[in-house]
Amino acid sequence: MKEKLDKIGQGAIKELEKVSDLKELEDLRVKYLGKRGKLTLVLRDMGKLDPKERPIVGQMANSIRKEIEEKISSIKDKLDEEVKKIRLEKEKIDITMTREKTRLGHKNPLIATIEELEDLFTSMGFTVIEGPEIETVENNFDALNTPANHPSRDHSDTFYINEDLLLRTHTSPVQIRAMKEMGAPLRIISAGRTFRFDDVDDTHSPMFHQLEGLVVDENVSMANLIHTLDIFIKELFGAGMKTRYRPHHFPFTEPSAEVDVSCISCMGQGCEQCNYTGWDMELLGCGMVHPQVLENCGIDSEKYTGFAFGMGIDRITMVKYGINDIRLLFENDNRFLQQF
Ligand code: PHE
Repeated sequence: MKEKLDKIGQGAIKELEKVSDLKELEDLRVKYLGKRGKLTLVLRDMGKLDPKERPIVGQMANSIRKEIEEKISSIKDKLDEEVKKIRLEKEKIDITMTREKTRLGHKNPLIATIEELEDLFTSMGFTVIEGPEIETVENNFDALNTPANHPSRDHSDTFYINEDLLLRTHTSPVQIRAMKEMGAPLRIISAGRTFRFDDVDDTHSPMFHQLEGLVVDENVSMANLIHTLDIFIKELFGAGMKTRYRPHHFPFTEPSAEVDVSCISCMGQGCEQCNYTGWDMELLGCGMVHPQVLENCGIDSEKYTGFAFGMGIDRITMVKYGINDIRLLFENDNRFLQQF
């Protein structure tokens, strides 16, 4: 029996040494140590032995079993290590490999202009506020002294949601919201999208952008309006820029004016671009807030006066960046945007 055990032990070790993968190893474990394994079967015959011999043979069998188990475990460790190595090799990432550069996005020139304008006006004490693109007919027209028979209210000129709601045609309704919510005194600007029924071409779009400004306080005069706008225009376009105030009509300001600036191409010298006038027409509309508009918002027009202005910021962006087609601002074509 001892001899049998010895032979089994040696055979097992010999076979184990040739093992090359985990499956073979498991097969051998079953072959020797499993329920019907060689060692197990021999030990079943222990009962036939002389009782004196049993503990000796038992001890021997145990040490052989231990030897085989240890061998299996060390081979398993070795094989596991190899498998791991192969996997690591296969999944290795070459960090020196070059790849295509990620392109970082950046600001659309229109957004850059809005931010520049906001910086400028906040440095002059204005607060930036927002208003909704879907507005009430009341705020967009009635409260701004624009009566029901005014041509700008025509259904074919404006995008109506229903009888009471529309896509705002200018940022001026933000004046109404600001005065109603904040009261006087107040100094705000507000930029955003505006909408008018218009065919698309290189200078027109049914969706465009405006920036509105409003100051209401005691003793606010036309002189304050002109001074504020002159500072702003010189800051934006350079000190050489001249301004010209042309009388105009807006229902919600009185008096009202449109502001022209020196032609950017010739800086006022006169060129083909400006029809040799030296002026770039209509940078913005402005005026003293109509007393009725102040009253419409619950502000005492005997005590307070105000001025307001509104400008198309798509145009300003185009002049500033030398862009000749408004559509380029909205198409988000990378070839265009990357130039700024
Ligand atoms: N809302 C006017 C427009 O869209 C511009 C404007 C604003 C005029 C404020 C006067 C005062 O044309």
